[in-house]
Amino acid sequence: MIKSRIAGVGHYVPENVYTNDDLAKLMDTSDEWIKERTGIKERRFATKHKETTTTLGYEASKVALERAGITAEDVDFIIFATLSPDYYFPGCGVLLQRALGITKSEIGALDVRTQCTGFIYALSVADQFIKSGMYKNILVVGAEMHSSGLEFATRGRGVSVIFGDGAGAVVLQPSEGDNGIENSELHSDGTNAEVLSLSSPGSHGGFHSDDKDQFGFPPEDELGEIFITDKMVKDGHLYPHMDGKVVFKKAVVKFPEVIVSSLAKIGKTPADLSLLIPHQANLRISQFVQKILKLDDSQVFNNIQKYGNTTAASIPIALSEAWEQGKVKPNDLICLAAFGSGFTWGSVVLTW
Ligand code: UT7
Repeated sequence: MIKSRIAGVGHYVPENVYTNDDLAKLMDTSDEWIKERTGIKERRFATKHKETTTTLGYEASKVALERAGITAEDVDFIIFATLSPDYYFPGCGVLLQRALGITKSEIGALDVRTQCTGFIYALSVADQFIKSGMYKNILVVGAEMHSSGLEFATRGRGVSVIFGDGAGAVVLQPSEGDNGIENSELHSDGTNAEVLSLSSPGSHGGFHSDDKDQFGFPPEDELGEIFITDKMVKDGHLYPHMDGKVVFKKAVVKFPEVIVSSLAKIGKTPADLSLLIPHQANLRISQFVQKILKLDDSQVFNNIQKYGNTTAASIPIALSEAWEQGKVKPNDLICLAAFGSGFTWGSVVLTW
């Protein structure tokens, strides 16, 4: 069967650097706390009213297209993964199509909403379209502008010190040889959907309760208003909510599991990996995974120290940087893996 391959990869991060000390001026936190718990030293934040999730994705796409040796007119499908879109709707896919000036051909544009695993899901979907012969040049983008929706105050410090803005993109094409995507695995478990969530605005009401039914509704006396109310704004329901410890505990189990199982499907083990590019959630998670899988430092790529957690953008940014640094070479066995909100997790194994 025909395989798909990454023909070009690119990334873009905003110019504005915010160090941990900069955040400590806005909330009760410290460089020491952030570095010790997450490994993050600094992150980039986009320029308000000049940049959006789509503009970041656009800049990354231009690089990926150029490196693939094609123009925007050659793109026959767009897949855009983000949890921080420009608008509640429509999605960033059509906004990117417009920005790239490819409206004449009326190609399809799909938005993917699986948060930290967004790029893995997007790449896997693109792989199926290439393998089926439906498309020849798919632009797959992961981009986030978190800074527009974080609470830069002590109440929000458990979340806001972790995230950063940025974008990465790849062009996926049919492979001419044997190299390319070997397989992908996608998983989810919605039991803890609200553990890492932004529930308002939405049809649900944004209740955070441990006592909930199968749809996440709390007991009747805990129900509030739906959509946006002053109380919701005051209570911080318009900011992301995260129980970091619950996410951490699940992540360190599911990351190794999905990496080992996708490698096993092609008769490989972690020892065969040239490079693992894990979603940059927390340096401590990556280090834990590295230890469990007995990988040496040269087999794992991390850049969370510079960019924070950029959710759907973290894997394509890291892939692009690794490629630029000569750490991704022809015939290398690469594994991309992610875990995050949903919970969702997954992996893509490819021969470069
Ligand atoms: O990519 C999406 C998936 N997300 C993740 O993978 C995140 C996974 N989880 C984590 O990375 C960690 O749980 C965090 C880094 C988010 C938090 O680390 P933690 O060791 O789990 O800390 P915690 O939330 O249990 O908080 C410990 C203490 C608390 O104080 P008390 O109650 O012990 O007095 C917090 O209030 O640290 C306090 N704290 C802070 N202190 C300074 C929380 N955030 C901060 C902060 N600065 N930014």
